[in-house]
Amino acid sequence: MLEIRDSVAVVTGGGGGIGFEVAKYWIRNGGKAVIADISAPLLEQAEKELKAMGGDVAPVLCNVTTEEDNAKLADTAIARYGQINLVAPFAGIIKDAMTVSYDKVSGKVVRKMTLDQFKAVIDINLTGVFLTVRECMERMMNNKCKGLVCLVSSTGSLGTAGQINYSSSKAAMSVFPKVLTAELIRRGLGNMIRVVAIAPGYVGTPMVKGMNQDALKKILAEVPIGRLIEPEEIASLVGELYRNEALAGDVFFIHGGLRLGSRG
Ligand SMILES: NC(=O)c1ccc[n+]([C@@H]2O[C@H](COP(=O)([O-])OP(=O)(O)OC[C@H]3O[C@@H](n4cnc5c(N)ncnc54)[C@H](O)[C@@H]3O)[C@@H](O)[C@H]2O)c1
Repeated sequence: MLEIRDSVAVVTGGGGGIGFEVAKYWIRNGGKAVIADISAPLLEQAEKELKAMGGDVAPVLCNVTTEEDNAKLADTAIARYGQINLVAPFAGIIKDAMTVSYDKVSGKVVRKMTLDQFKAVIDINLTGVFLTVRECMERMMNNKCKGLVCLVSSTGSLGTAGQINYSSSKAAMSVFPKVLTAELIRRGLGNMIRVVAIAPGYVGTPMVKGMNQDALKKILAEVPIGRLIEPEEIASLVGELYRNEALAGDVFFIHGGLRLGSRG
């Protein structure tokens, strides 16, 4: 079993939502956190709160879509703490729209998902994660760090109407653990760096609370536990995946019993 105490977590999207909660969990359990976010005010607030808990925390202003910022992030972790033990690339966005919006009354298409809506989500949720993972794994290997890369997929990876961009990015996250684990095994590093993904259902973060409230009510009616998942419940799962070294190469769902898949 791995200990969180004195370990170093690199968390993107660490300024808010699930990322911030993971950083908080790390600090509460005696770890250190490098938090990265594109929003300076969110990052500042998160740093303040984590330091108020007595935490050792390094904030990095970072746009995960650029190679330079991801390199800076990984370098900061090594320069400040000499190691990276958890990589949690949790920066992510949604930009929902039907691929083609068909109006039943006029019998015509009235809107389409724009290229910008598609690309923005892929750039952050897929390309951004690839870059964070690549830069952090490079430093982990070069500095002989033991730990976990924990991706965040989603129940949306199974296909949600209005989310062809998001669902595609999250389906990719469910294959990352397989690919990376296969690559690590080839180099005899499978026990050194484990890779998993979590696939949450609907979590009570700004991303979800900001949704159309009627849509949210309908969603909750489908969740057997009758509520949103708490961000700290996600952080606790990440902690368990980190500690338990038998867990590797797989996707772990956490959704309160949600019936999975999109019924249209
Ligand atoms: N909330 C949910 O129900 C839910 C469910 C399944 C998966 N997820 C995934 O969990 C992750 C976190 O979601 P959340 O609900 O905490 O979202 P959130 O919107 O609350 O937080 C996301 C954070 O990422 C930051 N960010 C956005 N673009 C960035 C960029 N280019 N570079 C750096 N930081 C950037 C934001 O500033 C924000 O602080 C996402 O990948 C999301 O897809 C969330």
